[in-house]
Amino acid sequence: MTAFEVRHYDSVGSTNDEAIRLAAEGAPHGTVVHADQQTVGRGRLARRWLSPPGNLYVSIILRLGLLAARTVELGFVAALAVADAIETMLPKQERATLKWPNDVLVRDGKISGILVEQADDALVLGIGINVLQAPGGVSYKVSTIVGCGGLATVDGTRSALLTALAHWLDIWQRDGFDAIRATWLTRAHPPGTPLRVTIGDRSIEGRFATLAPDGALIIDTDEGRRRCTAGDVGLA
Ligand code: BTN
Repeated sequence: MTAFEVRHYDSVGSTNDEAIRLAAEGAPHGTVVHADQQTVGRGRLARRWLSPPGNLYVSIILRLGLLAARTVELGFVAALAVADAIETMLPKQERATLKWPNDVLVRDGKISGILVEQADDALVLGIGINVLQAPGGVSYKVSTIVGCGGLATVDGTRSALLTALAHWLDIWQRDGFDAIRATWLTRAHPPGTPLRVTIGDRSIEGRFATLAPDGALIIDTDEGRRRCTAGDVGLA
């Protein structure tokens, strides 16, 4: 089981950048960079991730010896861990659901973001979770744990996340991506859900079919079955 060692910072540019720097210096598997705020937090597709105090910003160095083609799997492992961790802090009736590729939603609002980056022979798993602050200036609906009636602190959220992450990393390493994929499918949009995938200035509409064994999104469109490996997904 992965043992985590947390390095705490008041403020950094991006915890992913700090973790990439530490990885280059040889920081071990399980090193966690946690900052109270980020001044240039990064999101997917070169977006900003607004990072005021009151939310969780962590990046975890993982040395798993994986083939590069399997890196994408880690985002799905992380999404399951985030969803489980958040549900331990929410009222019983609230559910954390998943949206391709790695979004975790509560009450249809994005509550977390996940960014996996390569750092030489290590992977850096960056995770942001909205605990108290709903970041403004974004084009999608957002949620926070406390805003959804949860009882949470930033440090408590980190601790719940690392416990859940150790669990899902174990399952992934023991049983492979099939086990992750099967659980992800039970928590994601059901087959048939109308989706719009936006890639740059193009968008494709279709109905969710499945998650491919390599993590690609499979949708059925009027022109036939399509495979998507990048982009943003919204409900059509
Ligand atoms: C997304 O666009 O959904 C991914 C957002 C990832 C944000 C986290 S916060 C901690 C880590 N450091 C960063 O700069 N980004 C990730």
